[in-house]
Order: sequence, then structure tokens, then C-alpha cells
Amino acid sequence: MNHSCLSALRWFLLVLLFSTVSAHSWIEQLLVIAANGTFVGAPGYARGNVLRTDPSFNDKTMTYLLPPNGQANQSVIEPTDKLCKSTQRTQNQTEGSPRLQASAGAAIALRFQENGHVTLPWNQPGKPKNRGTVYVYGTTEPKEDENFVDVHKVWNRNGTGGDRRGVLLSQQNFDDGRCYQINNGNISEHRQKAFPHVADQTMGADLWCQQDIALPSDAPSGKLYTLYWVWDWPTAPGVDPSLPNGKLEMYTTCIDVEVVDGDNSTTASRVREGYVEDQSLDRAAIPSEFAEIMSSGTSKEAGSSLAPSSSTTPAPTSTPTPTPAPTTPPRVSIVTTFITSYVTVQPTGG
Ligand SMILES: *[C@@H]1O[C@H](CO)[C@@H](O)[C@H](O)[C@H]1NC(C)=O
Ligand SMILES: *[C@@H]1O[C@H](CO)[C@@H](O)[C@H](O)[C@H]1NC(C)=O
Ligand SMILES: *[C@@H]1O[C@H](CO)[C@@H](O)[C@H](O)[C@H]1NC(C)=O
Ligand SMILES: *[C@@H]1O[C@H](CO)[C@@H](O)[C@H](O)[C@H]1NC(C)=O
Ligand SMILES: *[C@@H]1O[C@H](CO)[C@@H](O)[C@H](O)[C@H]1NC(C)=O
Ligand SMILES: *[C@@H]1O[C@H](CO)[C@@H](O)[C@H](O)[C@H]1NC(C)=O
Repeated sequence: MNHSCLSALRWFLLVLLFSTVSAHSWIEQLLVIAANGTFVGAPGYARGNVLRTDPSFNDKTMTYLLPPNGQANQSVIEPTDKLCKSTQRTQNQTEGSPRLQASAGAAIALRFQENGHVTLPWNQPGKPKNRGTVYVYGTTEPKEDENFVDVHKVWNRNGTGGDRRGVLLSQQNFDDGRCYQINNGNISEHRQKAFPHVADQTMGADLWCQQDIALPSDAPSGKLYTLYWVWDWPTAPGVDPSLPNGKLEMYTTCIDVEVVDGDNSTTASRVREGYVEDQSLDRAAIPSEFAEIMSSGTSKEAGSSLAPSSSTTPAPTSTPTPTPAPTTPPRVSIVTTFITSYVTVQPTGG
């Protein structure tokens, strides 16, 4: 590799490092998880998805922030603030970004990029140690004008919250304990060694984060089941001098899944029992997340009361036991690796 090529690579890395800082996150894709923990089938996408490869893509085409930028009091979500981005309020898919198809009770992974929020935490002082909490709510009766405050921290595990149209399916740390983007911060460097994976077209050399959930086992076949993903990432008061009162910061993605008749080989309980430890991390669920799915009762009837109380406090940051992985050096082609990483983070918005 000659010198100019190396400096081009360095430039890519710099662009990557700085562009990841301001980029925010959304659900990039969903996958069904087989009983052995491996992702199977074709990925599905959010409503109104704009792929990163689409010429019209930029960060703002997919991020949805509450409270909105420019709102005077950043500690308030207005009662009429909508849960879904304007392009995600109807059950609409874009060409090339179909819905996920999954059977009732299936285990599915929601995947997102950490965009530096995990690996460069010092860029945003006052943020929670778990990098915020991610919630997935589910309903068979979504509303086009769904209000944020009617759902978040209102719908609960047992379906008795608020207007009872939906349930809380999952609550996890934004930091799934292993995801990273490539940068030269110590966290990323540590994770690149601890959780190596072979770079691919989709993720480049990065390892995306995931939230593994189970669809309710009584979700009706032949219908759409709606998932509302909420990343709750507040800034505490008194840490960042420019934010003496702290602020709320939430991002959402609204998603429909097509519930299909199927075998039950993807049911969440089977994944938990059948998980194969030794497999590629970028194609497999995180087994520790199944413990919570199973204890939630949502893999039984959505309305059942098996659930422990649905806590609204963020889960403590836990350090999941690293899954031993074959130490394939992420050597592949370094050039491809850097370029795909660069491409996946391209122009960033705020
Ligand atoms: C898991 O099961 C799927 C579907 O049956 C199969 O394609 C995949 O190779 C298996 N993975 C492992 C690690 O055994
Ligand atoms: C902003 O809203 C919060 C929560 O309602 C309230 O406690 C605070 O006083 C408000 N701040 C201002 C400057 O109005
Ligand atoms: C799909 O989205 C477009 C643009 O937001 C909207 O005009 C249209 O009515 C939607 N179609 C359906 C079936 O919801
Ligand atoms: C990274 O560096 C910070 C600050 O020096 C330190 O607190 C943290 O433990 C380090 N993390 C890792 C994974 O090395
Ligand atoms: C899967 O479905 C079959 C047929 O409906 C049923 O007999 C079997 O008990 C199910 N297995 C599990 C693990 O739910
Ligand atoms: C449902 O969950 C809420 C919140 O966790 C709890 O207060 C309530 O008692 C539960 N209701 C039933 C019927 O289990």
C-alpha cells in the first residue's frame, strides 16, 4: 500500500471519527432469530425507511428527536408531540425496504448503530452510563396520530397501562455490551479485540447494537403488528455547563411487522434454550437479552399478568459476559473495511 493510499485511509478514519459524534440512531433493520440464536431470513425495515445507500439519504431522513430542536424548554414533551416521525405515521413501506415477516412469539432483533454514543461517551457529558435506555412497545391498534406521552412509560408489561391498546415488550440498555464503531478511543479498541467480527457490506467493520425482543405469542397472523422503539437518553442537570437544567432527549422509530403463520422454530423460548455459543457475533442474537424477554410475560399472552412490575427506571448498566468468539483477525481487506465504514456513516445531520 503506498503512502497516498495510507493517508487516504487516515482521512477516512478521521471523517469517520468526527462524523459519528453528531449522528444519532434509529432502527436500521430487523431480523428473525432462529432457535440456535442465528439471524435467519431477509431483513425487514421501519415504516418509510430510507436506506443509507439511497441518494436522498442523510441522517435527518431517519432520526426523529423529541423534544424537537428549538423548543424553548428542553425538559418538556408536549402532550401533542407525535410518537412517530412524519414519514412514519402511516403503515407505509418504501421500495426496497419491506417489512419483516415473523410468526407470533418469534424472537427478533432490532439493530441500530451506536454512532459514538457508546464508544465516545465523553463527547456528551451528563448522559446515563448505560447510554440511555431503549424501549420497545407493541400494539395491534396503532394510531396515525399517536401521542408520545400516551405510550412511553404508560403502556406496561401486562397491557393495563394508559388506554390499554399496547404493551411494553422490552427495556434494555442502549449499550448492548459489545457494539462499537471503529475509532481509536479506548472503548472501541477494547471491543474490537473482545468482539471481533468479519467486516461485511452492511455494517462495514463496525458491530451494530441490537435489542432482542419476542413478539407476543397471540399476535394475530395475517395482520400487522406495530413496534414503537424509543431511545430515552436524557442529560442530567448540572454536568454540562451549557445545560444547567439538563434536558430530555428521545429518538423513536416506528415499525410494522407482518405476522405470518409459521413453524415455531423461531419462538423466543427456543432461542434461549438452543443458543449456540460459538458463532459469528454479527449474525446472532445476544443470549443475555432473552432472560428479560422470558421473565416479562410478553412471550405469553400480551394481556397476561405474569409480569413483574414494569419499572420505568433505566436498567442498571450491566456488563454481559462476553460470548467467546473465534478470534478471526478482522483483516479481510482493510481498504474495503474502511471504505464501507466511511460509506455507512456518510453525511451527518445534527
Ligand atoms: C442456526 O440455524 C440456522 C437455520 O436453521 C442455520 O442456517 C444456521 O447455520 C445455524 N447456525 C449455527 C451457528 O449453527
Ligand atoms: C421546563 O419544564 C420543567 C418540567 O415541566 C419545569 O420544571 C421547568 O420549570 C421549566 N423551565 C422553564 C424555564 O420554564
Ligand atoms: C403513504 O405515505 C404517503 C406519504 O406520507 C401518504 O401520502 C400515503 O397516504 C401513505 N399511504 C398509506 C396507504 O398510508
Ligand atoms: C477508557 O478510558 C477511560 C478514561 O481513562 C477509563 O475510565 C475506562 O475504564 C477505559 N475503558 C476501557 C474499556 O479501557
Ligand atoms: C411447535 O408447534 C407444534 C405444532 O403446532 C407443537 O406440537 C409443538 O409443541 C410446538 N413446540 C414448541 C416448543 O412450542
Ligand atoms: C400491571 O402492571 C402495573 C405496573 O407494573 C401494576 O401496577 C399493575 O398492578 C399490574 N396489573 C395487573 C393486573 O397485573
